[in-house]
Amino acid sequence: MPTGTDLLAEIERLRKERNAVILAHYYQKPEIQDLADFVGDSLDLSKKAAETDADVIAFCGVRFMAETAKILSPEKVVVLPDMDAGCSLEDSCPPEQFARFRAEHPDHIALTYINCSIQVKALSDIIVTSSSAEKILSQIPEDQKIIFGPDKHLGGYLARKTGRDMLLWPGVCIVHEAFSETELLKLKAEHPGAPVAAHPECPAYILDHADYVGSTSGILAYANDMQGDTLIVATEPHIIHQMEKAMPDKTFIGSPGADGNCNCNICPYMALNTLEKLYVALRDLEPRIEIEEDTRLKAKTSLDRMLAMAS
Ligand code: 13P
Ligand code: SF4
Repeated sequence: MPTGTDLLAEIERLRKERNAVILAHYYQKPEIQDLADFVGDSLDLSKKAAETDADVIAFCGVRFMAETAKILSPEKVVVLPDMDAGCSLEDSCPPEQFARFRAEHPDHIALTYINCSIQVKALSDIIVTSSSAEKILSQIPEDQKIIFGPDKHLGGYLARKTGRDMLLWPGVCIVHEAFSETELLKLKAEHPGAPVAAHPECPAYILDHADYVGSTSGILAYANDMQGDTLIVATEPHIIHQMEKAMPDKTFIGSPGADGNCNCNICPYMALNTLEKLYVALRDLEPRIEIEEDTRLKAKTSLDRMLAMAS
């Protein structure tokens, strides 16, 4: 296994040799974000995956994101450095249970957060990301009944903001659930006037203290536009890397968990990807995302609706 600058040079060589594009989510380790061709939120990464003319997509994120890339670009080889990079929201929504839930509510459509399995996407009508959910919801007729899953906090936030009464699936993100309201209030007292930007996967008792609620790309834009020089960030702390790169004069503080530290909010799934595993994935074109065609086509219908309604 090459190390240090040799490892970076080998990844570079393989990227060219394979005609590969490296896509990374904002929650990836800084060294992965720094060598990616594109770093973005779930919606932007889906769009990039749909548009790319590369032969190989090396997806540095979690499995549902790499699966989305494969659904939208089936002719490409899509590799994920660590196939165990799952998501607690996906785990909270087993397809058989979701299918039963849908069958119990035949007059509802299923508006589903992209953080779910391909089988749940195939059972859904429209997919949303945190950056597109509000816009998509506003295009659904007022009298249409809606099931929203799997994130009850994002669903609850949307329901409060838009006044839409939706049936919520009871899933949560273990990372955003770990923020402590008491510790956030202590941090706010230590930094009077510093705004709080939070991801809508946070529970309502955290969102209640936020000056801005939005997706990872939305939080980055807020950090860029804000007046002050200090921001408290209530989402996975690796996003702070992009903020510090783009805004070196501002201070970004991760919102803490119950232990007073923001490291407990590192996504354990995202953290499975490493430069070494990325190198192996580009070298061996494994682990590779493979999906069954019938399920892919059904999932693509709900994703295509998202892409059309979000644009
Ligand atoms: P974004 O779409 O805001 O990047 O969110 C993805 C995610 O998994 C947040 O936990
Ligand atoms: Fe899933 Fe939460 Fe990790 Fe996002 S941060 S990938 S929602 S476990």
